[in-house]
Parts: sequence; C-alpha cells; structure tokens
Amino acid sequence: METRILGKDLKVSAIGLGCMGLSHANGAPTEENEAVRLLREAVEDGYTFFDTAETYGYKEDPHHNEKLLGKAFSGMRGKLVIATKFGVWFDYSENEYHPKLNADSRPETIRKSVDESLKRLNTDYIDLYYQHRVDPNVEPETVAEVMSELIKEGKIRHWGVSMASEDYIRRAHAVCPLTASQNVYSLIAPDESLFSTFEELNIGLVSCCPIAKGLLTGAYTKGQEFEQGDYRRGSAWFSDETMDKTQPLLDYLTQLGKEKNATLGQLSLAWMINKKPWIVPIPGTRKSSRLKENAGAGDIRLTAEEVAGIDAAITIGTT
Ligand SMILES: NC(=O)c1ccc[n+]([C@@H]2O[C@H](COP(=O)([O-])OP(=O)(O)OC[C@H]3O[C@@H](n4cnc5c(N)ncnc54)[C@H](OP(=O)(O)O)[C@@H]3O)[C@@H](O)[C@H]2O)c1
Repeated sequence: METRILGKDLKVSAIGLGCMGLSHANGAPTEENEAVRLLREAVEDGYTFFDTAETYGYKEDPHHNEKLLGKAFSGMRGKLVIATKFGVWFDYSENEYHPKLNADSRPETIRKSVDESLKRLNTDYIDLYYQHRVDPNVEPETVAEVMSELIKEGKIRHWGVSMASEDYIRRAHAVCPLTASQNVYSLIAPDESLFSTFEELNIGLVSCCPIAKGLLTGAYTKGQEFEQGDYRRGSAWFSDETMDKTQPLLDYLTQLGKEKNATLGQLSLAWMINKKPWIVPIPGTRKSSRLKENAGAGDIRLTAEEVAGIDAAITIGTT
C-alpha cells in the first residue's frame, strides 16, 4: 500500500486500521485468536498503521484492545506504527453497553497510562500518543509539557489530539508540536473548518469513523437491527431519516463506482485521501474481505473534478 507522512516525519500506510471495533462499541468482542489472526492478516495486506486506545474494551476487560495488538504484533513491532490514546476512562456502572466517558488528563494519570499501555502493547515506545478527549480541568500547555517529557524519555515518538478545538490545538502545538489530530471526518460529517489550521501547522488529520460506521458502504438498510453494545443501535447515523438523506449520495457513488471499478466504501475513503495528502482514514472491520477492500481504496486515483463531484453530492452534514 502507498504511504503518506503525518506531521513532519511519521510515515504510515495511506489507509490505517481502526482496531476499536474488535473490542468495543461493536457488540460482543471478537474472539481473541480470530482478532489476532485478523490483525496479522492486515499486516500482510499492507497496513502499517494501527489505531487503538487504552480504553477500548468492555466491562470485564476494559483494556482488551491494546492487549490484542501486543499479542498480534510480537516480533514485527519495528515495521509498524502503533497509535494509542490516553485521557479518558469509561464508567460501566450505569450502562455496561454504552458506558459514560470521563476525561482525565492530569499529568500523574497520563504517566500511569503510558506505562500501562507500553506493557499491554508489549513494546518500549508508542509511535503516536493521542489525548483522546480534552480535559476541561487541564490546560493544553500542561498536557503538551508532559508529552514533551515523554518524547525525551523515549516512551512516545509523536503526539496528537482528538476532537480538540483550534484554540486548543494552537496552544498545545506551541509547547510541543502535534503530529496529528484524530477527528470524525467523512462524507456524512464533512467538517473542514480546521483544514487551514492543519495546513498551516503541518498537522495530519487521521479520520475516525471514515465510512460512518459502515453507513457509507451501502451495506446497511433501514430497520437494521444491531446487538447490545453496538453503538449503532439507536444512533442518529442509522436512523431512517439519515438513511433517506444519505441515499442520493450513495446513488451518486454507485454510478461513479461503475466508472472507477470501486465499491462505495472505497470511494468514501478515496475521496478523502485524494483531497489532501495529509489525511489518513482508519476504517475498522472484523472481516478479512473488508480489510482487503478498504486497503484497495489506497490505490484509487480521483481527479480534482471527481473529488469536487463527490463534494457536490454530499447531502447531509452530521457530527
Ligand atoms: N478518537 C475517537 O474518539 C474515535 C471515535 C470513534 C472511532 N475511532 C477510531 O476510528 C476507527 C474506525 O471507526 P469505526 O470503526 O467506529 O467506524 P468506521 O471505520 O467508519 O466503520 C466501521 C464499521 O463499518 C463496517 N465496515 C467496514 N468496512 C466495511 C466495508 N468495506 N463494507 C461494509 N461495511 C464495512 C464494519 O463492520 P464489520 O466489522 O462487520 O466489517 C464496522 O462496523 C476505530 O476503530 C477507532 O480506532 C476513534
């Protein structure tokens, strides 16, 4: 697969793999051997960029996902780029299927998190360490200062933020330069308001939920049932209203797909990587065939007119 650069020098596959769904937010977790097999298969398919978080897990095993990566990538660490995240924890006490998210980026919490993540990931460095959510009680400068120390100590190599505002990004970047920002960005959530900031500061955009949890692939229909613990259950993205509004866009992509010999999911990913060289989507899947399909999006070339044509076909903007 082709590669691209995030920030100054972090080289990653043009399509990364979002690993969350193997352990969290997609219903019951994937059986461990099956998940490890899939992660190794992704490496064979050309993925070198893997996204996890300390908090991707479930009530009985809250850090399941990092441990999976640690097991799967033993012996091949050097050729991979592992991104993980700190700064949030899930409270499973009220709702074990959709736990409450709490922010905590106190320096002492970050230091504990990084050491535990390193152990679970079975590595002595993290390539890209994101603050998962802004903590309203901790200044960006304080977090950035800790990142600067962790880089000096060799525990992390780059850092990033997720869902942070322009002001937060600028203040954090001034203390310790950011490599990437991970935000929801897709054809149904096409917010580009931070693009000029990313370009000015040379910060990459890692797009999470790049195919809108599967909605943009056309594989899901109205009335689809999702199991307990699957965040799509009751989600506005999968409401009849959103599906109706999205249909004309999917029809457009279906037509274009015939010309480009591409699936809807591939075009949704190709749209963003052909738009800017510093955007890297990280679609997630539990299926081998979809791993390959999504990786194939990295090879699709779209002209500026084709990208603009897809932009013009966008029918909905959600968050
Ligand atoms: N920073 C944050 O706060 C944040 C928030 C959300 C997500 N993320 C990151 O972003 C990654 C991706 O997000 P996501 O998994 O929520 O959403 P996504 O990548 O937009 O969609 C994943 C869903 O789409 C389905 N899918 C994948 N490829 C498909 C294909 N080719 N055809 C049809 N269906 C397909 C998958 O089902 P199957 O498994 O059945 O294939 C899965 O349920 C996560 O793994 C996580 O690393 C970060």
